[in-house]
Amino acid sequence: MPTPDLFSAALPETATQDSVQARMAQLRALLQHHGHQYYVLDAPEVPDAVYDQWFQELQALEAAHPQWRTPDSPTQRVGGKPLDAFISVRHAVPMLSIRTETDTESSGAQAFDTRVRKELELTEEAPPVEFVTELKFDGLAINLRYEAGVLVQAATRGDGEYGEDVTQNIRTVGQIPLKLLAADQSQPPEVLEVRGEVYMRRDDFEALNERQRARIARGDKGEKTFVNPRNAAAGAVRQLDPAIAAERPLSFFAYGVGEVRGAWAASTHMELLLALKAWGFPVAELTSTALGAEGLVTFHQRIGALRDQLPFDIDGVVYKVNSLALQQRLGFVSREPRWAVAHKYPAQEQLTTVLAIDVQVGRTGKLTPVAKLAPVFVGGVTVTNATLHNEDEARRKDVRVGDTVIVRRAGDVIPEVVGVVPQSLACVNRGDIFTMPRTCPVCGSAAVREEGEADYRCTGGLFCSAQRKQAILHFAQRRAVEVEGLGEKLVDQLVDAGLIRTLPDLYRLGFSALATLDRMADKSAQNIVDALEKSKETTLPRFLFGLGIRHVGEATAKALARHFGQIDAIMDASEEQLLAVNDVGPTVAQSIRTFFDQAHNREVVEQLRACGIHWSALEASSDAPKPLAGLTFVITGTLPTLGRDAAKDLIEAAGAKVSGSVSKKTSYVLAGTEAGSKLDKARELGVAVIDEAALRQMLESSP
Ligand code: IVH
Repeated sequence: MPTPDLFSAALPETATQDSVQARMAQLRALLQHHGHQYYVLDAPEVPDAVYDQWFQELQALEAAHPQWRTPDSPTQRVGGKPLDAFISVRHAVPMLSIRTETDTESSGAQAFDTRVRKELELTEEAPPVEFVTELKFDGLAINLRYEAGVLVQAATRGDGEYGEDVTQNIRTVGQIPLKLLAADQSQPPEVLEVRGEVYMRRDDFEALNERQRARIARGDKGEKTFVNPRNAAAGAVRQLDPAIAAERPLSFFAYGVGEVRGAWAASTHMELLLALKAWGFPVAELTSTALGAEGLVTFHQRIGALRDQLPFDIDGVVYKVNSLALQQRLGFVSREPRWAVAHKYPAQEQLTTVLAIDVQVGRTGKLTPVAKLAPVFVGGVTVTNATLHNEDEARRKDVRVGDTVIVRRAGDVIPEVVGVVPQSLACVNRGDIFTMPRTCPVCGSAAVREEGEADYRCTGGLFCSAQRKQAILHFAQRRAVEVEGLGEKLVDQLVDAGLIRTLPDLYRLGFSALATLDRMADKSAQNIVDALEKSKETTLPRFLFGLGIRHVGEATAKALARHFGQIDAIMDASEEQLLAVNDVGPTVAQSIRTFFDQAHNREVVEQLRACGIHWSALEASSDAPKPLAGLTFVITGTLPTLGRDAAKDLIEAAGAKVSGSVSKKTSYVLAGTEAGSKLDKARELGVAVIDEAALRQMLESSP
C-alpha cells in the first residue's frame, strides 16, 4: 500500500491495522513538527486549517482505536479530569535557588565576577571568565521530566526538594513539547529533566483580564481579574481543573537541566541551551555570552534599556559561568550555586498604603482620581502619587483610603495603582467607595461625564485655573481672536506671575506690567500691547470658537453665528433651539448649554465686551445678504492680501462653502501665487479659476 497523501484526511476503508498505526504515527509527527513551528518558533509553515484537519483526523483515528492513543499525542494536551489536590513529588535533583545580587547598579555585576575569580584563584593576569547572560523571567519554575523522549511529569519547584505534580496543566502549554524533537545529531538522553520558567506574556495577560472583566460584568460568580502576569501564570499552573488551565495562555523558556541519565557530551552551559533548543524548547533570543565583568555590565545595561519593551516581565538578568567544568569546581554554598547570580533591576511594583484619594484637573479639564500614598521606592524613584485613571477604574479596583495597594512604575510611565491586596482588607478601617465629585475641585464649575466617555471634565474652561494657560492660548491663537506674539512661554510667565487669571485680564495688561517681565524688551512689550488692541476687532465665529466650549470647533462656531446672529441669542438658547442649527447634535447642544449656564462664563463674555472686544454687526446678523449662497470654493496658493483663514471667513460669511479638494462640483478655485496641484486639477476639470480681486468683486457686486 502506498504512503497516504499527507493532505488527504481519510484512509481507505480497507486500510490494514499496520497502515492505520503508521498513519497515526505520521500525524503525530506532523502535528509535533508544525506545533513547534507555530508555538515555539512563531513561524508556521502550513495554514491553521491544514493543522486543524490533521488534528481532527488523528482525533478520529484515536477514537476508533483507543489502544493506539499515546500519551505524547498532540491531542492529549487537555483532557484530564479536575483534581482534588496535587500530588507531592520528590525532585530527583533538588531545584536550587539562585543568589540575588540586590545592588542594582553595575557594581553588582562587578562583585559577582570578583567573587568567581577569587573562588577559582585566578590572578589578575588570567583572561576574563566567560559567562552566559540570561534574562530572569518573572514566572514560576518548572521541572519537566522526559523519559525516552516523552514528557512523563511536570512539577513545580515547591520547597526545592518536594514540588507538586502539575503535569495535566503543563501539557496544555503549546510551547512545551510532549515529545522531544528528533534533533539532527544529538539523541536525547534516556532521562532528561528540563528546567525553566512558565510565564504569561503581557498581551496574553491583558487579553485574559479583558475576558475576566467581561465575565464579571456578565455576573459570573467566582471570577476575578489578575494583578500581574506572574500571579496569573501561577494561578493557571496551580489550577485543579485542566480545562480552565488550558484557557489561560501560558508560555515557557528553558534555562537549565535537572537529572540527566544517559550519554550527553555538553561541556558548556551554552551548548546545553542550544541542545534544548534543538529538542524543541523555547530559549530566550536575548541569551548570549559575555566576557568578564565588563561583558556583564554591558548586558545588564542593554537589557535594562529594553526591559519595558519586552513582551513579558523580567525582574533582572542571570549570569552563569559558561564552562560546566568550572561550574563543578565552584560548587554550591547553602543550596545556592556559586557559579550563578541573579542581578536585579529596581522593582517596578511595591506595596504601600493609600492615605487619600484626590482628584486632579488636567490642562484640558479632565478629572483624574489620584491615590496619595505613603512614600514608597519603586521603579527607581520615590512615589507618593499614583493614578487611578478614571472613576470606573477606581471603582473596579475598589481602591479606598486605608487599603494596602500594589503600586507600579515601569520606565517613565506615570505610576499607577495596580490593585488592592485582598488580605489587607480585614484589619483596616476602609474609607468609602470612590465617587467622582460633580463639581471641579479647582474652580467649582460643574464636572460632567458625557455618554460613552470614561472621563469627567470640568466645564469651567477659561475660568478654571487648572485650565487657564490652555484656555488663554486657545483664545489667542490665530484661528480665534489672534493675539500675535502671545505664545506658550509668555502665557506661562503671565499666569505664573499672577498677572492674568481670566481672559479679560489680558486686556487690562498695560505696557508697564508687560515690561516688568523677565527678558521682555520694551519693544516686545509694545508689540504685545498693539497685538491685543488689534485683536479686539474680531468676528463672532472667532470669538465663539475662542471661548473654548467643548465640542465647539471653528465650523460649529460659524454655524452658530450664522444661525443666531448675536452672542446673547446663543447664550440664552435652549438645547432645543441649539439643535435647530446645522451640525449641532445633542452632545454639542448640551455642552454649549452647560457652558453658558455657569454664571462666571457669562461674566467673562460681558467683561471681554466691556474691554472693547467687538465684531461687525453685519457679519453677525442672521439676515445678512448671502451673495455666494450655494457655491463651493477651493483656495490654493498665496493670496496678495488675504490670509487663507480670512478668505475662508469672507467666502463663508457670503454663504458659500470652502472645500479642501477640487472636483466637478467646485464652483471656483481661488488661486494665489505658487498654486500647485489644485490649480492643475481645476484646469483639467474646466473649473473656473479666479484671483483675490475677482473674489472681492463678486462679494461687492452681488445684490
Ligand atoms: S537558574 C541553579 N535561570 O529564578 C540555578 N533561574 O531562584 C537555578 N529564574 O524561581 C535557577 N529566570 O525560576 C535560572 N534564567 C534563569 C531564570 C531563573 C528566572 C527563576 C527561577 C527560580 C529563581 C531562582
